[in-house]
Amino acid sequence: MTRANGRPKIEVQDVSHWFMQQQTGDEVHALDAVDLTLRQGEFVTVVGPSGCGKTTLLNSIAGFIKPTQGTLLCDGKAIKGPGRDRGVVFQDLAILPWRTVRRNIAHGLEIAKTPKAERDERVAYLITLVGLEGFENHHPHQLSGGMKQRVAVARTWAADPDVILMDEPFAAVDAMTRLTLQEELNRLCLQTGKTVMFITHSVDEAVFLGDRVIAMTARPGRIKEDVKVPVPRAERDWSRYNTDPDLKTVTEHVLSLVRSEHGEQERAQHAEAVQ
Ligand SMILES: Nc1ncnc2c1ncn2[C@@H]1O[C@H](COP(=O)(O)OP(=O)(O)O)[C@@H](O)[C@H]1O
Ligand SMILES: [Mg+2]
Repeated sequence: MTRANGRPKIEVQDVSHWFMQQQTGDEVHALDAVDLTLRQGEFVTVVGPSGCGKTTLLNSIAGFIKPTQGTLLCDGKAIKGPGRDRGVVFQDLAILPWRTVRRNIAHGLEIAKTPKAERDERVAYLITLVGLEGFENHHPHQLSGGMKQRVAVARTWAADPDVILMDEPFAAVDAMTRLTLQEELNRLCLQTGKTVMFITHSVDEAVFLGDRVIAMTARPGRIKEDVKVPVPRAERDWSRYNTDPDLKTVTEHVLSLVRSEHGEQERAQHAEAVQ
């Protein structure tokens, strides 16, 4: 069972964004009329060709950028900037090399001036949750890529945000570790009931993790299709994924959506190059 209870947590309404290119003065149309609702407890994955505006969408929800047009709501209230209710996990791990595992995870809580006893208890809980027991006093350079990614995840979870925004967090870890991290993340999200938006360029990852997969068009990014994944998240692991005919059908469908947009993008780039 997922904990999605139907209440809208994040609402993206008719959001469009243009970036001004500093050197040329040209405008890049990054997002076009995006409508998307993340419901409480839902895990929504986003796929689309590189440069289609996925990160722009995530940054808008995080409050890092204000889109040119449209409305963004969290719990029905306008998103005006970053907030503790929304945590972000980036691809290039935002962990500090000079801090131990324990102190990296505690960092946000130190900033928030959480009392030490409460902080220690929370950090210990998170270390167990992400399987880093015994590594509390290690520094990042003493850890494998997968362990560093666990630190980054635990660091974001530490502040206990309702919403977690993840931008290709596992893109840089090796393939075997990634399988484990994906299964762990699925479990962690179910256990803690977080609402998640997870960007990836891997269709397998998107289908494996998502309640829904949002396939975006080539730039300007629009929602091409919102695809529901049939098997409950609680029943997912990679062996199920590899043998379940329904998951296979959905994966093939999402793959065809992404490939058709990739073709569009190549054609557009070719047209620009020969102009
Ligand atoms: N700060 C910026 N200034 C100008 N253009 C940007 C900026 N950030 C992103 N872009 C452009 O906007 C488009 C969408 O970018 P992005 O959201 O990063 O795509 P994605 O994450 O899907 O790869 C790209 O063409 C990118 O070059
Ligand atoms: Mg991106």
